[in-house]
Amino acid sequence: MTITFIGHGYVGLVSACVFADFGNEVYVIGRNKEKINRLKKGDPIIYEPGLKELLEKNLKAKRINFTLDYKKPISSSEIVFITVGTPPKENGEADLSSVFEVARNIAKNLGYHFTVVSCKSTVPVGTNKKVQKILEKHVPKKAQFAIASCPEFLREGSAISDTINADRVVIGSESKKAIKLLLKLHEPIAGKKIVTDLASAELIKYTSNAMLATKISFANLISFYCEKTGADVETVLDAVGLDKRIGRVFMYPGLGYGGSCLPKDVMALIDTGKKLNIDTLFLEAVEKVNQQAKENFLKKILKHQQGKKIAIWGLSFKPNTDDVRFAPSLFIIDNLLKNEFEITVYDPEAEKNIKKIFGNKISYVDTPYQAVKNADQLAILTEWNEFKQINLKKIKNLLKNPIIFDGRNIYDPILLKKLGFKYFSIGR
Ligand code: UGA
Repeated sequence: MTITFIGHGYVGLVSACVFADFGNEVYVIGRNKEKINRLKKGDPIIYEPGLKELLEKNLKAKRINFTLDYKKPISSSEIVFITVGTPPKENGEADLSSVFEVARNIAKNLGYHFTVVSCKSTVPVGTNKKVQKILEKHVPKKAQFAIASCPEFLREGSAISDTINADRVVIGSESKKAIKLLLKLHEPIAGKKIVTDLASAELIKYTSNAMLATKISFANLISFYCEKTGADVETVLDAVGLDKRIGRVFMYPGLGYGGSCLPKDVMALIDTGKKLNIDTLFLEAVEKVNQQAKENFLKKILKHQQGKKIAIWGLSFKPNTDDVRFAPSLFIIDNLLKNEFEITVYDPEAEKNIKKIFGNKISYVDTPYQAVKNADQLAILTEWNEFKQINLKKIKNLLKNPIIFDGRNIYDPILLKKLGFKYFSIGR
C-alpha cells in the first residue's frame, strides 16, 4: 500500500518505519527543512532503541521518503495518518491547532481515488468529527475520503516492538471501506483488532492512559502509607498483585509518571470532563498524588542531606529514551537549585535535552562515577539498567558521605545497609 504519515515524532516516525519494513511505500511529511534533511540521511532525531537501524534499512530499500511537500504523498496515498503533537495548553486542554492545520493541508491535496484520513494523534473525543468537517470544507469536488480514528499505544523506549506486537489495534470509523483498508494494513500486527465508532476509539486511548496513570498514583499513595507505618511497599504490592483481578504490572511506586503522554492525557480528560459537566474529582486526585510523589522525594533530600553538593543519576522521564518532557527530574533539579544545591548530573542519553533547560546552572559529566566524585549525596531519578549492578563499593569510596536517595527502588535496602550506605528509597 502507499501510505503517508504527517509528523515524525515517536508515533509518526516509528509507525512509518515499521509499515515501510512490512513492504509498504511510505511517505513522511514534516514542516522543518533541517529535520527532514536529517531524516533523509538516516538520523531519527529522537533516541529510540533500534530506530536508527530500522530507518537506515528502509531508506536504503527506498520504501520510506521524507518530504516537506503534501502534493505527491497525499494524492497517491490510500491511507493518510495524522501523527502530529497535541501538547497541553496552560489550562490542560489539548492543543489541536496542528491537527486542524494538517487536516486543511490534506484536504487541498487529496487525489480522486478513495483515501482514508486517520488520526493517530491522541485527540479528545469529538475531534475526528471536527477534522471531517474541515476536510469536507476544503476537499476538491471529486475527492472521495473517509475519516477513521486509529489511536496508538506504543511506549517510548520500546516503541518498535510495541508497534509490531501491539496488544490490540483499535479502528474507529463509520466507513466500511476505511475499516477494510485499515484492517488490511494492520494484518501483520498480531494483536486483537477492535472495530468501533469514532467516539469509542478516541475514548479508548484516554481511558488506557488514565488507567495507567491511576495505577501508578495508587502505588505511590500506598507507598506513603508504608513510609508512615514501616510496611514495605514492594512486598505489599507483590502480594496484592498476585490477585489476578489486580495484577502487578504498572504498579511501581517512584517519582510519579512523566513523559509526553500520561500527564497531558490526564489533564485533557479532566478538561473534557469539565466541558461535559462530569465531576473530575477522581482524575484530579490521580494528578495530585503524582505531584505529591515528587514532593515527598524532594522533602526526603532536604531533610536528610549532608551538604549542598548533590549528584543526580537519570534525567529522562523513563529509561531508554532521551525525552525529558514532564520528567520528574525537572521538578527535582528546579527545587534543588532554589535550595542552593550544587548539582552534577549524569544520564546516558538525556543530558543534551536537560542542558537546553538548565544550561550552565548545573554540571554535566560522562559517567556515573564522575558524577558522585566528592558529592555529599547521590539521588537516582531514572532506573537506567547501567545503575542496577554498578560497583557500589566504588560509589561509596567516591562519595563524601555514603547517602543514596533512590526514587526508583533499584537496590536492595538490606544490601545497601550492609555496604554502609544510608539509603532512602520509596515506601520501604
Ligand atoms: C504511555 C503509555 O504507556 C503508552 O501505551 C501510550 O501509547 C503512550 O503513553 C502514548 O500515549 O503515546 P510512555 O509515556 O512512553 O507511554 O511511557 P510509560 O511506560 O507509560 O511510562 C510513563 C511514566 O510512568 C514514566 O515516567 C514511568 O517512569 C512511570 N511509571 C510507569 C511509574 O512510575 N510506575 C510504573 O509502574 C510504570
